[in-house]
Amino acid sequence: MADVLIEAKGLRKVHAPRGGGAPTEAVAGIDFTVTAGEAFGFLGPNGAGKSTTMRMVAAVSPISGGRLSILGMDPATHGPQIRARLGSVPQDDTLDTELTVRENLLVYGRYFGLPRAVIRERAAQLLEFARLEDKADEQVEALSGGMRRRLTIARSLVNQPDILLLDEPTTGLDPQARHLLWERLFRLKQQGVTLLLTTHYMDEAEQLCDRIVVMDHGRIVAEGSPRQLITTHCTREVLELRFPADLQAQAAEKVAGIGDRLEALPDRLLVYADDGEDALAAVHRTGAEPLTALVRRAGLEDVFLTLTGRTLVD
Ligand SMILES: Nc1ncnc2c1ncn2[C@@H]1O[C@H](COP(=O)(O)OP(=O)(O)O)[C@@H](O)[C@H]1O
Ligand SMILES: [Mg+2]
Repeated sequence: MADVLIEAKGLRKVHAPRGGGAPTEAVAGIDFTVTAGEAFGFLGPNGAGKSTTMRMVAAVSPISGGRLSILGMDPATHGPQIRARLGSVPQDDTLDTELTVRENLLVYGRYFGLPRAVIRERAAQLLEFARLEDKADEQVEALSGGMRRRLTIARSLVNQPDILLLDEPTTGLDPQARHLLWERLFRLKQQGVTLLLTTHYMDEAEQLCDRIVVMDHGRIVAEGSPRQLITTHCTREVLELRFPADLQAQAAEKVAGIGDRLEALPDRLLVYADDGEDALAAVHRTGAEPLTALVRRAGLEDVFLTLTGRTLVD
């Protein structure tokens, strides 16, 4: 039996209204379990309820309904014990920008009451892990976004947590910074750290996660490995067609019926078909003349689009 570290059943969160109005049900009854060693992802657009879920799991925000068990404990009664065994990287960095990189690690270690010698040793290891040795004595203010993110992750590892929570770890970073971060996270996973992360980037979810739940409007709309999600909800391939803007609607009518499903986006048509080249040949037979045609494998973005009719990132 796999070791269950986190279990949620009918988990709900209702936020008090911000300045009047009706309360928001940010998380509307979700079930999930995370087992030891897994990389588990919440994929969904802005406002789906990902951060709200993460804050409940981090034992910093009380649940409004349902059940939540973390490392066999109830966050309502064992918050400090749970937090001692978690690492948490919130969506917005909470580094102390007036301290140096190393000082940020040392101060955090003291929160956990670790002996000074242990903290110093771990800080040195974590600086290396985060590739920040050269920056150790610089102020955080001088760091790039990617470096700050790596430092936040390093800091969250000071207490050698069993579970690492990452809320949008690479949002706003450039591609190079993201790839370095993915590589670091992959290394942690190999070391046996259980990862729980949120993202609205489908490539991040595909790269890092063994299992994903797709969230929308506070609910889970699908669950599985990236590959399972794609095979369950999509065709194998997608044919992307671009037409002159004023001719797209007309073209959509012509090619409707080709493949399994047609999705019209503002700038292109997506034809879902197991064989994209076959579908393209069929498009040409209708007399439709796309400006460009591209056949690609279906991905998680297509799963989200199929399930919700919307794109992940607008
Ligand atoms: N502290 C809060 N007070 C009131 N409403 C909130 C609060 N935090 C989040 N919300 C609302 O809850 C919903 C889910 O937000 P969030 O969990 O941040 O989504 P995500 O992280 O997926 O973007 C949104 O409608 C958001 O406006
Ligand atoms: Mg969020």
